[in-house]
Amino acid sequence: MEQEHKRRVRYRGTHPRRYEEKYKELNPQKYGEDVQAIIQRGKTPAGMHIPIMVEEILEFLQVKPGQVGYDATLGYGGHTKRILECLQGQGRLYATDVDPIESAKTQARLQELGYGPEILTVKRMNFADMDQVAPGVKFDFVLADLGVSSMQIDNPQRGFSFKQDGPLDLRLDPTCGVTAAQRLRELREDELVGMLMDNADEPYAQRIASAILRQLGQGRAIETTKQLYAVIEQALSFLPANQRKEAVKKSCQRTFQALRIDINSEYEVLYAFLEKLPDVLKSGGRAAVLTFHSGEDRLVKKAFKQYCRQGIYSQAASEVTRAGAQECFLNPRAKSAKLRWAIRA
Ligand SMILES: C[S@@+](CC[C@H](N)C(=O)[O-])C[C@H]1O[C@@H](n2cnc3c(N)ncnc32)[C@H](O)[C@@H]1O
Repeated sequence: MEQEHKRRVRYRGTHPRRYEEKYKELNPQKYGEDVQAIIQRGKTPAGMHIPIMVEEILEFLQVKPGQVGYDATLGYGGHTKRILECLQGQGRLYATDVDPIESAKTQARLQELGYGPEILTVKRMNFADMDQVAPGVKFDFVLADLGVSSMQIDNPQRGFSFKQDGPLDLRLDPTCGVTAAQRLRELREDELVGMLMDNADEPYAQRIASAILRQLGQGRAIETTKQLYAVIEQALSFLPANQRKEAVKKSCQRTFQALRIDINSEYEVLYAFLEKLPDVLKSGGRAAVLTFHSGEDRLVKKAFKQYCRQGIYSQAASEVTRAGAQECFLNPRAKSAKLRWAIRA
């Protein structure tokens, strides 16, 4: 049957600006050179995620052909692909992700590259259930690259960013749970203040929470990312004009982060992951965890240290590893990344 010809989205001006207009970036197979040029300019092309600290992670994990490993956060498959290269067709890699939208695309992409079910098992699962990923199997290595991918942040329909308007969703798995907009309607003011402080150290937590509750109390909706942005902007209108823009941006980033952590139960699932990790690792097995904010890093540091003291891990990183200057230039999202590792006794 003849395929229907689809016209690409038209954009105003000389460059596409909106996510859905970036047809070249969204098709790296066809426009590989353009996509590489964008990466070299220090930008992440739409619909793509650049893996962070790959060399440092591979150096630590020491992946060898024949080993069995687990990548807890498949995402775009950047780390997964490099690990699969190290396996050289021998062994097995299990990978999980809660996101049904992006993980399906990534699995198809990896399959096209020749990484099918004979070497790679992809499961749509929460890493909190890591003991169910391959029951009875002990892993040589485990990697978790926490948080969200660039694809999730950039897609306005997912609601992770206030740069473009979209539904205030923020669920990693949009097929279950409550959206951020729903959650805002459920919270009392003191709970909202606590969430903003605990999950993101928001200095204007009280003002922002009051502004949100006032807006909702007056029957005015906070259903989209731009509506939440506008409420935060209003809450910080007392600041001097020359400080306001930057402060609003930072408070928005922290508020979105706090909401995302809350509705996806990110601390609870990380806690479960860290507790189960020693049980799924072989003796001498290696685990690496990449975190993106201090709350996550504190949990990882504490768990690794505690299990080291108890002799469950033979060694754990005493310091975090950070991305180098060149990597941070090419991928600004690497700036906040912290890598910690541990080795099973
Ligand atoms: C930073 S990205 C991973 C990027 C990946 N390492 C790469 O190189 O493309 C984080 C991914 O973890 C997923 N994720 C977050 N929390 C999760 C959880 N509790 N269980 C499984 N996947 C999770 C997100 O959906 C997202 O796709």
